[in-house]
Amino acid sequence: MYRNLLFAGLLFLSLSACKQGIDNETYTKFQARGNDVTNLAQGTLLVNVGSAIQQGGPKYAVEFCNLKAGGIIDSLNLIYNCTISRVSDKNRNPENGLKDKIDRAVWSTFSANDQIDTLLQVKNNFVYYKRINTAMPACLKCHGNPDTDINPTTREKLQKLYPNDLATGYKLNDFRGLWKLEFKP
Ligand code: HEC
Repeated sequence: MYRNLLFAGLLFLSLSACKQGIDNETYTKFQARGNDVTNLAQGTLLVNVGSAIQQGGPKYAVEFCNLKAGGIIDSLNLIYNCTISRVSDKNRNPENGLKDKIDRAVWSTFSANDQIDTLLQVKNNFVYYKRINTAMPACLKCHGNPDTDINPTTREKLQKLYPNDLATGYKLNDFRGLWKLEFKP
């Protein structure tokens, strides 16, 4: 009896001391790093898209929404030794769909609650995911209602570049996608 209690106690301690097998110190370190990198990536993207909208309207800005535009993501990948991408269940770029069982599991958890981020261990690597919401009215100029939010010239350009576009019909503050950072060992 005493041994069983002791065992249960130890099990409880070891479960609460780590998240999915990652010890607290490592979790906190990689979570913080993931958060920094995605903030930098998001910030740069917003500045680039924002100034492109000012220069030539949303139609002109469409090409600035690709992560490869401007080379910033390549630099962040190099500096932080990771691979940055964005994934979504309704993706615009065909490369940005949910890739595997883990992407889909994270997606369904984040859809069901307001969770902001998570760190997982996949084989020997850490993968950090962070929620992306349509947090600004500007997002709707390219991801909102195609009839009322997206202007006709932008719509035309989106259709030309992304014939299989699924990424419209969002309202303000909808769950739009996930940052996905795969840290290299
Ligand atoms: C000027 C048009 C435009 C605006 C404004 C815009 N986006 Fe996008 N968005 C795009 C395009 C184009 C892509 C596809 C980029 C690519 O080729 O990878 C995209 C892709 C994405 C993706 C990657 C998944 C996918 O569908 O391919 C996410 C997530 C995303 N946008 C979120 C947002 C959010 C959040 C905002 C507002 C802060 C926003 N976008 C504003 C045009 C826009």
